[in-house]
Amino acid sequence: MNYLIELAYLAASVLFVLGLKGLSHPETAKRGMHMAEAGMLLAVVGTLMHHEIVSYTWIIAGLLLGSTIGGAMAYWVPMTAMPQRTALSHAFGALAATLVGVAEFHHQGAGLGTFKMTAVSLEVFLGALTTTGSLLAFAKLQELLPGKPLTYGGQNVLNLGILAGILGLFVYQAITLDAGPWFYVMTGLAAAFGVLLVLPIGAADMPVVMSLLNSYAGLAAAATGFAIDNKVLIIAGTLDGFSGFILSVLMCKAMNRSITNVLFGAFGSTTTAVAAGPQGEAREVSVDDVAVQLAYARLVVFVPGYGMATAQAQTAVRELAKTLEERGVAVKYAIHPVAGRMPGHMNVLLAEANVPYSDLYELEQINPEFPDTDVAVVIGANDVVNPDARDNPQSPIAGMPILEVDRARSVVVLKRGKGKGFAGIENPLFFKPATGMLYGDAKDSLTKLVQAVKAT
Ligand code: TAP
Repeated sequence: MNYLIELAYLAASVLFVLGLKGLSHPETAKRGMHMAEAGMLLAVVGTLMHHEIVSYTWIIAGLLLGSTIGGAMAYWVPMTAMPQRTALSHAFGALAATLVGVAEFHHQGAGLGTFKMTAVSLEVFLGALTTTGSLLAFAKLQELLPGKPLTYGGQNVLNLGILAGILGLFVYQAITLDAGPWFYVMTGLAAAFGVLLVLPIGAADMPVVMSLLNSYAGLAAAATGFAIDNKVLIIAGTLDGFSGFILSVLMCKAMNRSITNVLFGAFGSTTTAVAAGPQGEAREVSVDDVAVQLAYARLVVFVPGYGMATAQAQTAVRELAKTLEERGVAVKYAIHPVAGRMPGHMNVLLAEANVPYSDLYELEQINPEFPDTDVAVVIGANDVVNPDARDNPQSPIAGMPILEVDRARSVVVLKRGKGKGFAGIENPLFFKPATGMLYGDAKDSLTKLVQAVKAT
């Protein structure tokens, strides 16, 4: 039996690695996802074959409960709420790791020995902080709590003090193998630290924090693997931990921020003070005006953003692109790495609408093409096309690479009204002479544009 379990774990680990590799490219992402799912199934089946299991009653109850909650979330939670759904999943995963750690400590106490005591302590430290940190991230993203950073004097000093206390207890546990209450004090402090860590982080930085928490949850799972001698947990946890960390770094790079700045900079609390004010009147345009412009263009570049996701306008974008292409207009899509609210958000939506992958262009590829673009159509994007990031060193998003639509011959912006983007700042693009504003829900506007182009 042990041989079979090890074989299942080995196959699961290989599938996790291949799954991650598949996820690194949109064309193979779906296959990668299925591989990872198959790996997880094998890992669960392997675990269920363990001879130490005395009764399956609680396991089946947990399986039914977990599957019901997971299934319901997958079915009902909309794509736009994916970040907060992910935050909840991290909280559940980290809670599971914490509980396993606490149970191991409760059963074995000093009998754990130095190595396992260190692993268990690391597991509950990372697990507890990820559980509470993710729950707070969920509450902020779901707008149950204000999304703005919550700051107060001496915040970083207090946080670092608590972290020092946790690390002190961590070392104490490893050295003394104390089976007393200090272990639980450390767990409590880690839970409080999770809340304090996320409080000063603003909504716009939340996805970075979540991928960092994801990384902690993965490392907590890896520590669990060491604590209970489970190889597949060590491998899967390490993969999760490091891929989450790499993702956080990539997201920070795309926003021109450093991880320490995200964690300790309280971004968003001062944005209104330095943001540019309105710069004259924005010029409103009609559906018919835009339709004529598009119909007689040579090159049109669509620039989707978070608004396309909320409007679920991806199919309407594809429809308009097809209508234009039938008239001989060249159409391209410009994808900013942090457009929307999660990595690959735009790629996923456009793939769902069957937009060919070869029509998608990354920032570095498309920016040189804007001066030759007749119309750049901005669909519910705001921060990622804000020229202030390039031109105004005082801007809160200064230095963030942008899609330079303002260099196109003309720009049409589809948005509902005067709403700001996630960074909460004004966008001078909307007030430039070459920019026309087509107000309305993106899906409605695009559907009307398709009809109007056909009638032109
Ligand atoms: P945003 O700057 O958030 O702007 C979205 C715009 O869409 C808003 O100005 C809004 O204006 C409009 N909108 C909302 N619903 C709409 C609808 N139904 N129809 C038409 N327009 C609609 O979006 P973005 O340009 O994609 O930028 C993403 C932001 O998130 C950046 O600040 C980025 O740094 C941040 N962020 C993203 C990530 C990832 S991984 N994607 C990670 C961290 C941070 P109205 O209200 O006027 O309609």
